[in-house]
Amino acid sequence: MILVLNFGSQFAHLIARRVRDLGVKAEIVPFDTPAQEIAKLKPAGLILSGGPASVLEKGSPRPDKEIFTLGIPILGICYGHQVLAQMLGGKVEKGRTREFGKEALLLGDKRGLFSGLSRRQIVWFSHGDQVITLPSGFQRTAATASCPNAAFADRKRSLFGIQFHPEVTHTANGPRMLKNFLFAACKAKKNWRIASVAKDIVGQIKREVGDQHVVVGISGGVDSLVAATLIHRAIGNRLHAVFVDTGLLRQGEVAQVSGYLRRHGFKKLHVVDASRAFLSRLKGVIDPEQKRKIIGHAFIGAFEKAIRTELRRYPIAYLAQGTIYPDRIESASTSGVAAKIKSHHNLALPEKLGFQILEPLKDLYKDEVRRVGLSLGLPRELLFRHPFPGPGLAIRIVGEVTAKRLRIAREADAVFLAELHAAREYEKIWMAFAALLPVKTTGVMGDARTYEYAIALRAVDSVDTMSADWHKIPAPLLERISSAIVNKVRGVNRVFYDITQKPPATMEYE
Ligand code: XMP
Repeated sequence: MILVLNFGSQFAHLIARRVRDLGVKAEIVPFDTPAQEIAKLKPAGLILSGGPASVLEKGSPRPDKEIFTLGIPILGICYGHQVLAQMLGGKVEKGRTREFGKEALLLGDKRGLFSGLSRRQIVWFSHGDQVITLPSGFQRTAATASCPNAAFADRKRSLFGIQFHPEVTHTANGPRMLKNFLFAACKAKKNWRIASVAKDIVGQIKREVGDQHVVVGISGGVDSLVAATLIHRAIGNRLHAVFVDTGLLRQGEVAQVSGYLRRHGFKKLHVVDASRAFLSRLKGVIDPEQKRKIIGHAFIGAFEKAIRTELRRYPIAYLAQGTIYPDRIESASTSGVAAKIKSHHNLALPEKLGFQILEPLKDLYKDEVRRVGLSLGLPRELLFRHPFPGPGLAIRIVGEVTAKRLRIAREADAVFLAELHAAREYEKIWMAFAALLPVKTTGVMGDARTYEYAIALRAVDSVDTMSADWHKIPAPLLERISSAIVNKVRGVNRVFYDITQKPPATMEYE
C-alpha cells in the first residue's frame, strides 16, 4: 500500500486515484500522522502531497520528522517537495518568478523517477516557492528555465522531490513518473484489481455478518445500489432493503431501481411511499439548510418506522450504508482546514438505531464503485447516472417546494437528460440537471400571453468536486433542449443555461 500524506491539496485524492489506477492500493492520511502509526501500516512508499501553505510561513504544516528515518521511499510533490528539502537541511525561498501552469522541464538524470522518458517534458506547476539549496546527499534531476531545482533525488535512500504535479493530466508523463516511483523505488506489488476487490468484499461481508440479518437503505443512487448488490451476493435474503420514496427523486427512479432489484432476486425489498409526508413538512420552508435538516429527519423517521413495523420480526444486527472513500475522508477532514459551505452529509442514522455498521464501499472511489458494479453485472444505465444529492429535487427548486414546482422540475430534468442521452452527450458530463427558478416571466405561446416559471440548466465537469467548469454543450443541442422543455413541460416559458464555474458558484442551487 502507498500512503498519501495530505497537506491540504485539492489534488490529494487525485494522487491516490492515480496510484490505484496503476494497480496499487493507496490511502490518504493526515499530514501529521505519527511515524509510528505509519510504520504499523507497513506502506511500500509515502507520497507527500501539495498544499496551499508556504514552508516559509510560521506554523505551516510539517510531517513527523521521524518518517525520514523509517527507510520507506518518499516522493514529495510541490509543497511536499519543499517540506522534504527544508526538513532535511536544504533551503527554500520565494521564487523570483512564480510558476503556474504548463512548463517545459529538462531532465538532467533519466534514472529513478524519469526512467524511460525523453529529455524534454511538459509538466504542470502551481506554487510560488522554490528549493534554492538541496539537502546533502541529494542531486538535482530536472530544471525549468526559472526553477533550477524542479526535481531532486537521493536515490540511495529513495527520496524524491518534484516541484510540479504528476497527478494532473496536464503533466503528460505523470503516470509514468508515478509508475517508476511505485514499482522501481517502492517495489510495490500490483494487488488492486476491481474483480478481485469485489470478490474480497463479498468474502469480508460473509465473515463479518455470519448468519445475522442486515438492513440497507436504498437511496435510488449508485452507491447504495452497488452496496446492496454486494451484500445480497454475500448473504442473500438475510438482506432487507428499505427504499424510502421521498417524492424528491428523479423521474422514474423509484420504479427503475426497485424494478431492477426485484427482478434480480431481492426478496426483501420494502418500498415506503413517504412523498406526502416530505412535501407537507417542506411547506413554507425556503432556507436551504432548513430544507436539508427537515429532509434528513423525515428520512430517518420513515426508515425507523419501517424497521419498527415491517422488519420487526427479523433479528437485524447490521445497518449497511453506501459510504464511499471520499465521504469518509471529507468528514474526517484529513487536511484539518475546510470551511463549511453546505452540510452535505445529512444522515446520522447509525447511533440512533443501535445497529453495527457495515460499509462495504468504504475504501472505494466513485469510479471504482461503478467498475465494481459492472463486474457484478449491474447495467450501465443505472451505474453511470450522474451524482444526485440526498435532499434531491428539493435543493434544485429554489425557494419553497410545492407539488406543482416538483412536477415541473422533475419533468424538465427528465427532458434535459433524455436529450443529452439522445445526443450522446450525457456520459461526457460529470453532472447535469434542471433547476426551477421561482421567478415568473412573460412569454407568448400560440397567440396567448403566458406568465410562467423559468428553468435553469446546469451541466458541469469536475475532477474532485471541489471545483468545476461548465460543460460546453453545443449550441444546436442547447436550442433543441430549450424548445423541448418549453414545449413538453407545462408551466415553463423560459430556459437559461448556467455558465458559472465553481467556485464562485456551487454546483447545486442551494
Ligand atoms: P455543491 O453544490 O456543493 O455540490 O457544489 C457538490 C456535490 O455535492 C452534492 N451535494 C449534496 N449531496 N447532500 C448530498 O448528499 C447534500 O445536501 C448535497 N449538497 C450538494 C452535489 O450534488 C454535488 O455532487
